[in-house]
Amino acid sequence: MKIIITGGAGFIGSHVVRLFVTKYPEYQILNLDALTYAGNLENLRDIEQAPNYRFVKGDITDQAFVDHLFATEEPDAVIHLAAESHVDRSITDPLAFVKTNVLGTVHLLNAARNLWQPLGYAGKTFYHVSTDEVYGSLEMGPELFTETTAYDPRSPYSASKASSDHFVRAWHHTYHLPVKLSNCSNNYGPNHFPEKLIPLALHRIQQREPIPVYGRGENVRDWLFVKDHATAIDAVFHRGRVGETYNIGGVNEWKNLDLIHLLCDVMDEKTGQPQGSSRQLIKFVTDRAGHDLRYAIDSSKIMQELGWKPSVTFEQGLRQTIDWYLENQQWLNRVTSGQYQDYYRQQYAAR
Ligand code: NAD
Ligand code: DAU
Repeated sequence: MKIIITGGAGFIGSHVVRLFVTKYPEYQILNLDALTYAGNLENLRDIEQAPNYRFVKGDITDQAFVDHLFATEEPDAVIHLAAESHVDRSITDPLAFVKTNVLGTVHLLNAARNLWQPLGYAGKTFYHVSTDEVYGSLEMGPELFTETTAYDPRSPYSASKASSDHFVRAWHHTYHLPVKLSNCSNNYGPNHFPEKLIPLALHRIQQREPIPVYGRGENVRDWLFVKDHATAIDAVFHRGRVGETYNIGGVNEWKNLDLIHLLCDVMDEKTGQPQGSSRQLIKFVTDRAGHDLRYAIDSSKIMQELGWKPSVTFEQGLRQTIDWYLENQQWLNRVTSGQYQDYYRQQYAAR
């Protein structure tokens, strides 16, 4: 089986690529990524020589490129993660999100249909990786997002992801494309780009710089360790039913301020700072426009139907993550200085 994984140089994509390359040596994995600011091939240094792995630099907003790639590579499956993923960036530049997340997804759907429909679709899969943000925002309380919660996206990012989900389902209903979808909560773990809350806070604590907390820090997110998201994607890809959607979450809700306090305290303990000193770095700043109050996922469908469950507790996952950032200073330095963007030119472009 040949699988195109889009966005494989990004945070979650790199964990999915590594899992598939190492767990399924019989598969050929093609990592298709444009290497935007969020794409970092250094995330995949350890597997880049694997015989069943290849990287292709390319942009899914270019239909001609995508068509050519599908015609020449003839993939059996697509696991689509490439996206503009940061909510704050979507507020300042919404069009980039429409281009990649909506148009890019439709280009992939077109190419997959053109290649597979004449073959009758047998053994083919188009798997779209999406977000819980398509469901909108929950009030405080026991309510959870389920697979049947009505879509109510509120940010340009979530509107673009909701739109792409609708297009994926439309290709299933209209053209019988064999699709699968999953909608996941907030991920954390190694290789997380330091614009997102957890790696940003860890970096600021190390630098002894202010940690920006939007509003009063009362918004709630449901955090899942990225390697557990990768195993959930593996489960949905192999055992999920065609045409179905699976919600994936950590059953792990945290108010932002409580989470930042925890990060500060664990960092104080691990780096030998006086307990409580990192909390002094917290700085309340202007709230995010349209800031969704609470996300929380009901994962019972994937747990009961596919037998998936997270492998680590939040405490274990967070400690692994903090250890990783402390041990991989160079990764962080190369990302924050921009040096990581030279890696493709140095390692690949000359080949
Ligand atoms: P990321 O921003 O870390 O990585 C995105 C990757 O896509 C990068 O490698 C980037 O170079 C690539 N890319 C962007 N535009 C492209 C284009 N036009 N053509 C080809 N490649 C392009 O994102 P992430 O956090 O790893 O998220 C991956 C996917 O999972 C996204 O679809 C996102 O919506 C979804 N998701 C993310 C989270 C989360 O907490 N991060 C949670 C649920 C779902
Ligand atoms: O729920 C899944 C989504 O989680 C994914 O689809 C997105 O791709 C991913 O970026 C993430 O979105 P969030 O907006 O929830 O993540 P972020 O890390 O940007 O913010 C987490 C919370 O922390 C949110 O309530 C905003 C707040 N925040 C964020 C930053 C960057 C701060 O208070 N300060 C900050 O500096």
